[in-house]
Amino acid sequence: MKGIILAGGKATRLRPLTVITSKQLLPVYNKPMIFYPLNTLLKAGIREILIIIAPDYAGHFLHLLGSGREFKARFTYEIQEEPRGLADAFIIGKDFMDKDSVAMILGDNIFTDDLSEEIKSFKRGGRVFAKKVPDPERYGVVKFNQNNKAEKIVEKPQEWISDYAVTGLYIYDNRVCQFAKELKPSDRGEIEITDINNKYLKLGELDVKQVKGEWFDTGTFDSLLAASNYVATHKDL
Ligand code: DAU
Repeated sequence: MKGIILAGGKATRLRPLTVITSKQLLPVYNKPMIFYPLNTLLKAGIREILIIIAPDYAGHFLHLLGSGREFKARFTYEIQEEPRGLADAFIIGKDFMDKDSVAMILGDNIFTDDLSEEIKSFKRGGRVFAKKVPDPERYGVVKFNQNNKAEKIVEKPQEWISDYAVTGLYIYDNRVCQFAKELKPSDRGEIEITDINNKYLKLGELDVKQVKGEWFDTGTFDSLLAASNYVATHKDL
């Protein structure tokens, strides 16, 4: 299995911090943000990792992470010129993936669980990770039926359907590249990872696991602070 870290985007919500550097390089307590999702992949034994970045601070990423040798891994970089959507990772990453499956993680997502077993045991289809949150309208949200089976996933639902957010770690087999190619942009002009998840769901091949520990999407000042505070008191992360 290969890994992709999606670390592009403009992060205008975090201005003026993101005038200095990319969001994914900002400090979360004692480490740059991207170290946390990178660690989630490395812990699971993934050694070939594509890092997708925006043009603006590409040099900062190279300076920090280099070839990957220091991490006993091999890093490849691709530039995403415009934030076309999360599913663009599988169009940009098609050649890198070759015939393999992939674990794609967002560069601003921090998981405190060790998800290695869930990543290593993946065979085919899709696997995503849900977490109960107080503000589901900010996320892709998964609705479960009475038997606890995922029924549908809606991106940022305006009306409440469930409290379970789909977090930013996605595992797919190689078909994801074809599925991504077939997507049409949503109303917000992006090709949505939620459409990919619904595709696997309709095929009966989406496995939805629960995140037991904490999960931070550090795209806002408050969540950035909450993540830093968490790491400060749990120094093993
Ligand atoms: O954090 C989990 C959520 O991430 C999911 O629940 C949603 O289903 C998913 O759409 C996404 O929602 P966000 O609104 O948080 O996505 P955002 O546009 O903030 O992008 C997430 C990260 O991916 C962000 O760090 C920037 C990066 N990104 C985003 C886009 C759209 C890219 O590198 N390229 C892109 O084209």
